[in-house]
Amino acid sequence: MKNNVLVIGGAGYIGSHVVLALLKSGYGVTVFDNFSTGRRENLFPEAGLMEGDIRRYGDLTAAMKGGFHALVHLAAFKAVGESMLDPGKYAENNISGTVNILNAAVASGVHNVVFSSSAAVYGEPHYLPVDEDHPVNPENFYGFTKLEIERLLFWYDKLKGLRYAALRYFNASGYDPEGRIKGLEQNPQNLLPIIMEAAAGIREKLMIFGNDYATEDGTGVRDYIHVSDLADAHVRALAHIAAKDESLLLNLGSETGTSVLVMLETARRITGRPIPAEFTARRAGDPAKLVGTSARAEKVLGWKARHSGVESLVATTWRMYERLGRSD
Ligand code: WQD
Repeated sequence: MKNNVLVIGGAGYIGSHVVLALLKSGYGVTVFDNFSTGRRENLFPEAGLMEGDIRRYGDLTAAMKGGFHALVHLAAFKAVGESMLDPGKYAENNISGTVNILNAAVASGVHNVVFSSSAAVYGEPHYLPVDEDHPVNPENFYGFTKLEIERLLFWYDKLKGLRYAALRYFNASGYDPEGRIKGLEQNPQNLLPIIMEAAAGIREKLMIFGNDYATEDGTGVRDYIHVSDLADAHVRALAHIAAKDESLLLNLGSETGTSVLVMLETARRITGRPIPAEFTARRAGDPAKLVGTSARAEKVLGWKARHSGVESLVATTWRMYERLGRSD
Protein backbone atom coordinates (compact mmCIF):
# COMPACT_ATOMS: atom_id res chain seq x y z
CA MET A 1 0.00 0.00 0.00
CA LYS A 2 1.21 3.41 -1.02
CA ASN A 3 1.58 4.95 2.37
CA ASN A 4 2.48 2.05 4.61
CA VAL A 5 5.90 1.63 6.15
CA LEU A 6 7.32 -1.33 8.06
CA VAL A 7 9.74 -0.14 10.74
CA ILE A 8 12.06 -3.01 11.66
CA GLY A 9 13.42 -2.32 15.13
CA GLY A 10 10.62 0.20 15.63
CA ALA A 11 10.38 -0.37 19.39
CA GLY A 12 14.00 0.60 19.95
CA TYR A 13 15.53 3.87 21.01
CA ILE A 14 15.94 5.41 17.56
CA GLY A 15 13.23 3.32 15.91
CA SER A 16 10.51 4.60 18.22
CA HIS A 17 11.43 8.19 17.34
CA VAL A 18 11.28 7.28 13.64
CA VAL A 19 7.81 5.75 14.15
CA LEU A 20 6.64 8.98 15.79
CA ALA A 21 7.96 11.09 12.92
CA LEU A 22 6.38 8.82 10.28
CA LEU A 23 3.01 8.86 12.03
CA LYS A 24 3.18 12.63 12.27
CA SER A 25 3.83 12.82 8.53
CA GLY A 26 0.73 10.76 7.77
CA TYR A 27 2.30 7.36 7.04
CA GLY A 28 0.66 4.16 8.15
CA VAL A 29 3.22 2.36 10.32
CA THR A 30 3.73 -1.24 11.37
CA VAL A 31 6.48 -2.03 13.86
CA PHE A 32 8.48 -5.26 13.51
CA ASP A 33 10.53 -6.05 16.60
CA ASN A 34 11.71 -9.02 18.64
CA PHE A 35 11.93 -6.93 21.83
CA SER A 36 15.46 -8.06 22.57
CA THR A 37 16.35 -4.43 23.20
CA GLY A 38 13.13 -2.77 22.05
CA ARG A 39 10.59 -1.76 24.68
CA ARG A 40 6.85 -2.35 24.65
CA GLU A 41 6.39 1.08 26.24
CA ASN A 42 7.73 2.50 22.98
CA LEU A 43 4.77 1.22 20.95
CA PHE A 44 2.05 3.60 19.80
CA PRO A 45 -1.59 2.58 19.47
CA GLU A 46 -1.74 4.19 16.01
CA ALA A 47 0.93 1.79 14.72
CA GLY A 48 0.47 -1.92 14.05
CA LEU A 49 2.80 -4.56 15.51
CA MET A 50 4.36 -7.72 14.07
CA GLU A 51 6.50 -9.54 16.57
CA GLY A 52 9.32 -11.37 14.88
CA ASP A 53 13.02 -11.86 14.43
CA ILE A 54 15.07 -10.79 11.42
CA ARG A 55 17.09 -14.00 11.79
CA ARG A 56 13.95 -15.90 10.72
CA TYR A 57 13.14 -15.31 7.04
CA GLY A 58 9.57 -16.56 7.48
CA ASP A 59 8.85 -13.91 10.13
CA LEU A 60 9.80 -11.25 7.60
CA THR A 61 7.80 -12.58 4.65
CA ALA A 62 4.78 -12.98 6.96
CA ALA A 63 5.17 -9.38 8.14
CA MET A 64 5.54 -8.06 4.60
CA LYS A 65 2.40 -9.83 3.36
CA GLY A 66 0.41 -6.70 4.22
CA GLY A 67 2.15 -4.89 1.35
CA PHE A 68 4.43 -2.02 2.18
CA HIS A 69 5.57 1.01 0.26
CA ALA A 70 8.85 1.03 2.16
CA LEU A 71 10.71 -0.29 5.12
CA VAL A 72 13.01 1.34 7.63
CA HIS A 73 15.65 -1.01 9.00
CA LEU A 74 17.05 -0.20 12.44
CA ALA A 75 17.31 -3.70 13.89
CA ALA A 76 20.89 -4.24 15.00
CA PHE A 77 23.11 -4.99 17.92
CA LYS A 78 25.24 -1.90 18.48
CA ALA A 79 27.58 -2.38 21.41
CA VAL A 80 31.04 -1.79 19.97
CA GLY A 81 32.95 -3.60 22.75
CA GLU A 82 30.72 -6.67 22.60
CA SER A 83 31.06 -6.83 18.80
CA MET A 84 34.81 -7.36 19.22
CA LEU A 85 34.29 -10.20 21.71
CA ASP A 86 31.36 -11.91 19.99
CA PRO A 87 31.58 -11.17 16.26
CA GLY A 88 29.41 -14.21 15.44
CA LYS A 89 26.45 -12.68 17.23
CA TYR A 90 26.87 -9.44 15.26
CA ALA A 91 27.42 -11.19 11.93
CA GLU A 92 24.34 -13.36 12.39
CA ASN A 93 21.98 -10.63 13.49
CA ASN A 94 23.23 -7.54 11.71
CA ILE A 95 24.51 -9.06 8.44
CA SER A 96 22.54 -12.31 7.97
CA GLY A 97 19.44 -10.63 9.38
CA THR A 98 19.76 -7.93 6.74
CA VAL A 99 20.20 -10.50 3.96
CA ASN A 100 16.86 -11.94 5.11
CA ILE A 101 15.27 -8.50 5.12
CA LEU A 102 16.48 -7.67 1.61
CA ASN A 103 15.41 -11.03 0.18
CA ALA A 104 12.01 -10.73 1.83
CA ALA A 105 11.66 -7.16 0.52
CA VAL A 106 12.44 -8.28 -3.04
CA ALA A 107 10.08 -11.29 -2.76
CA SER A 108 7.30 -9.08 -1.35
CA GLY A 109 7.66 -6.18 -3.78
CA VAL A 110 8.93 -3.61 -1.27
CA HIS A 111 11.10 -1.23 -3.27
CA ASN A 112 12.37 1.34 -0.76
CA VAL A 113 14.62 0.81 2.25
CA VAL A 114 15.93 3.37 4.72
CA PHE A 115 18.87 1.91 6.61
CA SER A 116 20.32 2.95 9.93
CA SER A 117 24.07 3.08 9.24
CA SER A 118 26.80 4.65 11.33
CA ALA A 119 29.80 6.95 11.23
CA ALA A 120 31.59 3.89 12.65
CA VAL A 121 32.15 2.87 9.00
CA TYR A 122 34.81 5.60 8.72
CA GLY A 123 37.12 4.48 11.54
CA GLU A 124 39.89 6.84 12.59
CA PRO A 125 39.32 10.09 10.66
CA HIS A 126 41.95 11.26 8.16
CA TYR A 127 40.46 14.74 7.96
CA LEU A 128 37.70 16.75 9.60
CA PRO A 129 34.87 17.29 9.19
CA VAL A 130 34.23 13.83 7.80
CA ASP A 131 32.19 13.83 4.59
CA GLU A 132 30.65 10.91 2.71
CA ASP A 133 33.70 10.61 0.44
CA HIS A 134 36.00 9.98 3.40
CA PRO A 135 37.58 6.50 3.06
CA VAL A 136 35.78 3.77 4.98
CA ASN A 137 37.85 1.65 7.32
CA PRO A 138 35.88 0.49 10.37
CA GLU A 139 37.96 -0.12 13.48
CA ASN A 140 35.48 -2.41 15.15
CA PHE A 141 33.31 -5.33 14.09
CA TYR A 142 30.11 -3.40 14.71
CA GLY A 143 31.19 -0.77 12.17
CA PHE A 144 32.20 -3.54 9.77
CA THR A 145 28.66 -5.01 9.90
CA LYS A 146 27.19 -1.61 8.99
CA LEU A 147 29.58 -1.26 6.05
CA GLU A 148 28.80 -4.76 4.80
CA ILE A 149 25.11 -3.92 4.85
CA GLU A 150 25.71 -0.73 2.87
CA ARG A 151 27.49 -2.87 0.28
CA LEU A 152 24.60 -5.33 0.14
CA LEU A 153 22.24 -2.42 -0.40
CA PHE A 154 24.39 -1.15 -3.25
CA TRP A 155 24.14 -4.52 -5.03
CA TYR A 156 20.42 -5.02 -4.41
CA ASP A 157 19.88 -1.58 -5.89
CA LYS A 158 21.89 -2.49 -8.97
CA LEU A 159 20.50 -5.99 -9.44
CA LYS A 160 16.99 -5.81 -8.04
CA GLY A 161 16.03 -2.15 -8.40
CA LEU A 162 15.75 -1.67 -4.66
CA ARG A 163 16.23 1.98 -3.72
CA TYR A 164 17.82 2.77 -0.39
CA ALA A 165 18.99 5.55 1.85
CA ALA A 166 21.96 4.59 4.02
CA LEU A 167 22.06 7.12 6.83
CA ARG A 168 25.36 7.34 8.66
CA TYR A 169 24.54 8.63 12.11
CA PHE A 170 27.12 10.32 14.25
CA ASN A 171 26.48 10.14 18.03
CA ALA A 172 22.72 9.71 18.47
CA SER A 173 21.46 11.27 21.72
CA GLY A 174 18.47 12.94 23.36
CA TYR A 175 14.81 11.96 23.64
CA ASP A 176 11.61 13.27 22.10
CA PRO A 177 11.29 16.93 23.25
CA GLU A 178 7.55 16.41 23.74
CA GLY A 179 8.08 13.46 26.09
CA ARG A 180 6.09 10.96 24.01
CA ILE A 181 8.73 8.22 24.19
CA LYS A 182 8.38 6.35 27.48
CA GLY A 183 10.92 3.55 27.30
CA LEU A 184 14.40 4.22 28.53
CA GLU A 185 17.21 2.55 26.60
CA GLN A 186 18.43 -0.48 28.59
CA ASN A 187 22.11 -0.88 29.51
CA PRO A 188 23.17 2.29 27.72
CA GLN A 189 26.84 2.41 26.79
CA ASN A 190 27.16 6.00 25.61
CA LEU A 191 28.36 9.18 27.22
CA LEU A 192 25.16 11.13 27.83
CA PRO A 193 23.10 8.32 29.39
CA ILE A 194 26.09 7.43 31.56
CA ILE A 195 26.29 11.05 32.75
CA MET A 196 22.54 10.94 33.44
CA GLU A 197 22.86 7.75 35.48
CA ALA A 198 25.51 9.45 37.59
CA ALA A 199 23.22 12.49 37.94
CA ALA A 200 20.29 10.32 39.01
CA GLY A 201 22.46 8.52 41.57
CA ILE A 202 22.16 5.08 40.00
CA ARG A 203 25.82 5.13 38.98
CA GLU A 204 28.56 6.28 41.29
CA LYS A 205 30.41 8.50 38.84
CA LEU A 206 31.41 9.20 35.27
CA MET A 207 34.81 7.90 34.26
CA ILE A 208 36.28 10.29 31.70
CA PHE A 209 38.38 8.36 29.20
CA GLY A 210 41.47 10.53 28.76
CA ASN A 211 42.24 14.20 29.41
CA ASP A 212 45.37 14.46 27.27
CA TYR A 213 43.90 14.50 23.78
CA ALA A 214 44.88 17.27 21.40
CA THR A 215 41.50 18.96 21.86
CA GLU A 216 40.62 22.25 23.51
CA ASP A 217 40.10 20.80 27.00
CA GLY A 218 41.96 17.50 26.49
CA THR A 219 38.82 15.31 26.41
CA GLY A 220 37.27 13.55 23.43
CA VAL A 221 35.15 15.56 21.00
CA ARG A 222 32.13 14.10 19.18
CA ASP A 223 29.26 15.18 16.96
CA TYR A 224 26.10 14.56 19.00
CA ILE A 225 22.89 14.47 16.99
CA HIS A 226 19.40 14.51 18.48
CA VAL A 227 17.28 11.41 17.70
CA SER A 228 14.34 13.60 16.70
CA ASP A 229 16.55 15.22 14.07
CA LEU A 230 17.58 11.74 12.90
CA ALA A 231 13.93 10.72 12.75
CA ASP A 232 13.06 13.74 10.63
CA ALA A 233 15.85 12.84 8.21
CA HIS A 234 14.44 9.30 7.82
CA VAL A 235 11.06 10.67 6.75
CA ARG A 236 12.67 13.03 4.25
CA ALA A 237 15.02 10.34 2.93
CA LEU A 238 12.13 7.94 2.41
CA ALA A 239 10.14 10.52 0.45
CA HIS A 240 13.21 11.35 -1.63
CA ILE A 241 14.23 7.85 -2.69
CA ALA A 242 10.63 6.94 -3.55
CA ALA A 243 9.91 10.12 -5.52
CA LYS A 244 13.25 10.40 -7.32
CA ASP A 245 13.85 6.68 -7.74
CA GLU A 246 17.45 7.07 -6.61
CA SER A 247 19.48 5.82 -3.67
CA LEU A 248 21.25 7.97 -1.12
CA LEU A 249 24.26 7.75 1.16
CA LEU A 250 24.24 10.51 3.77
CA ASN A 251 25.95 11.60 6.94
CA LEU A 252 23.65 12.79 9.69
CA GLY A 253 25.30 14.89 12.33
CA SER A 254 25.00 18.26 14.01
CA GLU A 255 28.33 19.51 12.58
CA THR A 256 29.24 20.66 16.08
CA GLY A 257 32.03 19.19 18.16
CA THR A 258 31.27 18.77 21.87
CA SER A 259 33.84 17.59 24.38
CA VAL A 260 33.20 15.23 27.28
CA LEU A 261 33.82 18.08 29.72
CA VAL A 262 31.41 20.44 27.97
CA MET A 263 28.73 17.72 28.03
CA LEU A 264 29.41 17.10 31.71
CA GLU A 265 29.36 20.79 32.70
CA THR A 266 26.14 21.34 30.75
CA ALA A 267 24.59 18.35 32.50
CA ARG A 268 25.66 19.67 35.92
CA ARG A 269 24.07 23.02 35.16
CA ILE A 270 20.81 21.66 33.77
CA THR A 271 20.27 18.91 36.33
CA GLY A 272 21.52 20.92 39.30
CA ARG A 273 23.25 17.73 40.47
CA PRO A 274 26.96 17.54 41.27
CA ILE A 275 27.61 14.48 38.97
CA PRO A 276 30.86 13.03 40.30
CA ALA A 277 33.48 12.40 37.63
CA GLU A 278 37.02 11.11 37.50
CA PHE A 279 39.68 11.09 34.81
CA THR A 280 40.98 7.71 33.77
CA ALA A 281 43.05 6.25 30.92
CA ARG A 282 42.06 6.65 27.29
CA ARG A 283 39.73 3.98 25.92
CA ALA A 284 41.33 1.85 23.18
CA GLY A 285 40.25 2.80 19.67
CA ASP A 286 38.80 6.23 20.59
CA PRO A 287 39.74 9.01 18.17
CA ALA A 288 40.41 12.43 19.75
CA LYS A 289 37.83 14.10 17.60
CA LEU A 290 35.08 12.93 15.26
CA VAL A 291 32.84 15.52 13.65
CA GLY A 292 30.97 15.18 10.40
CA THR A 293 29.61 17.44 7.74
CA SER A 294 25.97 16.95 6.82
CA ALA A 295 26.08 19.39 3.92
CA ARG A 296 24.91 16.67 1.52
CA ALA A 297 21.82 15.89 3.64
CA GLU A 298 21.03 19.59 3.77
CA LYS A 299 21.41 19.96 0.03
CA VAL A 300 19.53 16.81 -0.99
CA LEU A 301 16.85 16.66 1.70
CA GLY A 302 16.67 20.26 2.90
CA TRP A 303 17.45 18.77 6.33
CA LYS A 304 19.21 20.47 9.17
CA ALA A 305 19.63 19.52 12.82
CA ARG A 306 17.23 21.61 14.92
CA HIS A 307 17.22 19.93 18.32
CA SER A 308 20.89 19.06 18.60
CA GLY A 309 22.22 21.87 20.77
CA VAL A 310 23.97 20.51 23.88
CA GLU A 311 21.30 22.00 26.18
CA SER A 312 18.51 20.33 24.27
CA LEU A 313 20.32 16.98 24.23
CA VAL A 314 20.88 17.12 27.97
CA ALA A 315 17.45 18.51 28.94
CA THR A 316 15.44 16.00 26.88
CA THR A 317 17.52 13.12 28.25
CA TRP A 318 17.35 14.35 31.85
CA ARG A 319 13.57 14.38 31.67
CA MET A 320 13.77 10.61 31.16
CA TYR A 321 16.31 9.98 33.91
CA GLU A 322 15.10 12.44 36.53
CA ARG A 323 12.45 10.01 37.75
CA LEU A 324 15.01 7.22 38.34
CA GLY A 325 16.81 6.83 41.61
CA ARG A 326 13.93 8.42 43.51
CA SER A 327 12.13 6.50 46.19
CA ASP A 328 8.66 7.92 45.37
C1 WQD B 1 31.62 9.56 23.44
C2 WQD B 1 32.82 10.25 24.11
C3 WQD B 1 34.40 8.71 24.99
C4 WQD B 1 31.76 6.99 28.00
C5 WQD B 1 30.00 5.02 19.87
C6 WQD B 1 30.25 4.06 18.76
C7 WQD B 1 29.69 4.58 17.48
C8 WQD B 1 28.24 4.96 17.63
C9 WQD B 1 27.99 5.82 18.81
C10 WQD B 1 26.47 3.50 17.19
C11 WQD B 1 34.17 9.61 23.77
C12 WQD B 1 33.77 9.50 26.10
C13 WQD B 1 32.26 7.78 26.98
C14 WQD B 1 32.31 7.13 29.32
C15 WQD B 1 33.80 8.83 28.47
N1 WQD B 1 27.47 3.76 17.81
N2 WQD B 1 33.27 8.67 27.21
N3 WQD B 1 33.30 8.06 29.49
O1 WQD B 1 32.61 6.03 21.15
O2 WQD B 1 31.97 8.24 20.07
O3 WQD B 1 30.68 6.22 19.57
O4 WQD B 1 28.61 5.28 19.96
O5 WQD B 1 25.61 3.00 16.91
O6 WQD B 1 29.85 3.62 16.53
O7 WQD B 1 31.65 3.87 18.62
O8 WQD B 1 30.43 7.21 21.77
O9 WQD B 1 29.20 7.70 23.82
O10 WQD B 1 30.89 5.82 23.83
O11 WQD B 1 31.70 8.17 23.71
O12 WQD B 1 34.69 9.65 28.71
O13 WQD B 1 31.92 6.47 30.27
O14 WQD B 1 32.66 10.13 25.53
O15 WQD B 1 35.77 8.48 25.24
O16 WQD B 1 35.12 10.64 23.73
P1 WQD B 1 31.56 6.93 20.66
P2 WQD B 1 30.49 7.16 23.34
